[in-house]
Amino acid sequence: MSKPYFDKILHGGDYNPGQWPPEFWQEDMRIFEKAHINSATINVFSWGRLQPSEKEYNFSELDQVVDLLTERDYEIVMGTSTAALPAWLSRKYPDVNRTDFYGRPHKYGHRHNACPNSLSFQYYAKELVTRIAERYGSHPNVKVWHISNEYSGECYCDNCAKAFRIWLKEKYKTIEAVNEAWNFDFWSHTLYDFEDIVPPNYLGDGVSDTMAAFAGISIDYRRFMSDSLLNNFIMEKEIIRKYDKERPVTTNFMGAYKGLDYFKWAKEMDIVSWDNYPGLNTSWSHVAMNHDLMRGMKNGQSFMLMEQTPSQQNWQPYNSLKPPGRMRVQSYHAIAHGADTIQYFQLRRSKGGCEKFHGAVIEHVGHENTRVFREVAELGKELEQLGNCHIGAETPSKVAILFDWDNYWALEYTSGPHKDLYYVSQIQQYYDAFYRRNIAVDMIPMDADFSAYDVILAPVFYMVKEGMGEKVETFVEEGGTFLTTFMSGIVDQSDNVHLGGYPGPLRKTMGIWVEEIDALPPDESVQIHGESGETYQGEMLADLIHSEGATVFATYASQFYAGIPVVTHNSFGKGTAWYVGTVPNQALLDAIVHQIVLKNNVVGFGIQPDGIEITKRVKGDQEFIFIMNHGEKPVRIEIDLEGYINLLTKESFEKTEELPPYGVKILSKG
Ligand code: GLA
Ligand code: ZN
Repeated sequence: MSKPYFDKILHGGDYNPGQWPPEFWQEDMRIFEKAHINSATINVFSWGRLQPSEKEYNFSELDQVVDLLTERDYEIVMGTSTAALPAWLSRKYPDVNRTDFYGRPHKYGHRHNACPNSLSFQYYAKELVTRIAERYGSHPNVKVWHISNEYSGECYCDNCAKAFRIWLKEKYKTIEAVNEAWNFDFWSHTLYDFEDIVPPNYLGDGVSDTMAAFAGISIDYRRFMSDSLLNNFIMEKEIIRKYDKERPVTTNFMGAYKGLDYFKWAKEMDIVSWDNYPGLNTSWSHVAMNHDLMRGMKNGQSFMLMEQTPSQQNWQPYNSLKPPGRMRVQSYHAIAHGADTIQYFQLRRSKGGCEKFHGAVIEHVGHENTRVFREVAELGKELEQLGNCHIGAETPSKVAILFDWDNYWALEYTSGPHKDLYYVSQIQQYYDAFYRRNIAVDMIPMDADFSAYDVILAPVFYMVKEGMGEKVETFVEEGGTFLTTFMSGIVDQSDNVHLGGYPGPLRKTMGIWVEEIDALPPDESVQIHGESGETYQGEMLADLIHSEGATVFATYASQFYAGIPVVTHNSFGKGTAWYVGTVPNQALLDAIVHQIVLKNNVVGFGIQPDGIEITKRVKGDQEFIFIMNHGEKPVRIEIDLEGYINLLTKESFEKTEELPPYGVKILSKG
């Protein structure tokens, strides 16, 4: 494991002092100190101030802010300001503006608005970042580089079309290979020249941004857009590297955001950071899964919680307050899953613009006598006392779930068999089954080392790219337990079906053949019987399975396919391959997971009362066990952890203890 980047927990967040007069700044510093803030993220959206015109740069304000923070020895997270264009750039070089899915060229406005393939954007971004990196590249207080902000969105302009053709030429070499990959013989789409290629937008082959006439071209466009934005990131990173060889470079992710292949991005980043904004109804397990996905980005390396709101948001339909204690447990939840920083958006609430109702450490009233401030300050103090013992600690896990952006795109572009099939919610269902048992799960990419795990799950493993069938086969042959589901093994990297029967390259390992796939309307379910007469239900899709050697675990008990297998497991080599042919209800899923956990001797912290979550991080031979109550009621738990003390109170842990609403304990052996 590489050395962690931080020697203390960064406690800070986005600070945009340009929005209010300098007289406020000293007061901000006084208040931050009381909140044990030790870091600030600056210069994320300042291009307009830094460069008021094409020829003119002005760093005096940024210099002052850097000095202000340096005097107090703050750790600075330095933004590069390229996530929102200055007005002059957009007016003078309109090619910097994006064209949307509907083919409409955008005018100046909003943010995250640059065409990634605009040479004007690239030129001026480079010029700006060179000056920033030159100026602050050896500044001792700059601890992290934060490039742009939440890269996202797409562009369908003519420059992007040109760049897409170049990208395709590199990938496919000949136009015949493109036709073949996209199956363009269908509907007489044959292309004769790379110039015939049109980006798959509303005016072309994209039916909507979630459904395509030809998924192949739409998936390639997603890959291309992700690469185009990634090239913007790499361009900035390379400039920074000229002036600073050491400090980590990041950009802030958004969990399971669909638009970018984050696993590919993470390879270019030194440290992963992400922004956690759960809504009122977001489940804690969903947040946990997102954290685990972020930890999986760089093979278990701890990550930064770059943003969370200390209180409410502004952009959700109903922006409720976080009740007392909730922000604290949410922060420890991030740490419990691998975060080494706790940062807020925003340190002071903006005066105008759409984020004036977004929570902040300092509210509009301007002083520290607020509930939210007190909670931030208490947490800051606690984090300071906790120190750095857990920084860089790892999360040992024997279970992994495969997550893959190509699959995400392909599954959701596909026309049929069911419109309500979403990638992340299918993955979530399996994650939840382990979450309920407090078993640690790693979220891993397709190119991960499978041999590090005893159990790997790949729900809706729809797109099986070259070599993946063999990789799964070897994993199972050598003793692994692999689980996959309906809508798996169906297509190749271009969304063309693996001919010869579903689940294609997984068929041999699974020991089954799926002859047909039924789609159930939203209010219908199919009855299922377990081998000892248990009754279960399935939803959404129902695979009609033939066993080709697999043992049947459950069969349909209704519809015209009553008696046909729905869940099977196959002994293959030294391992086992499970296949689940429907969306199982919780009882069926739990029954399957129970078998898997038992057979592989996977131990977690067991099923706990509602709202309780327990995770473990390990550093050397020291364990940190996080017990969290996400609920608003006190909960009594019983767990045998003799000899452990709560690092937050220094009290020893009794076998049975009560956790108050939103309570947290971090246990260690002293
Ligand atoms: C995102 C952005 C921030 C801010 C917050 C508001 O995460 O990165 O600039 O807009 O949302 O929640
Ligand atoms: Zn473009």
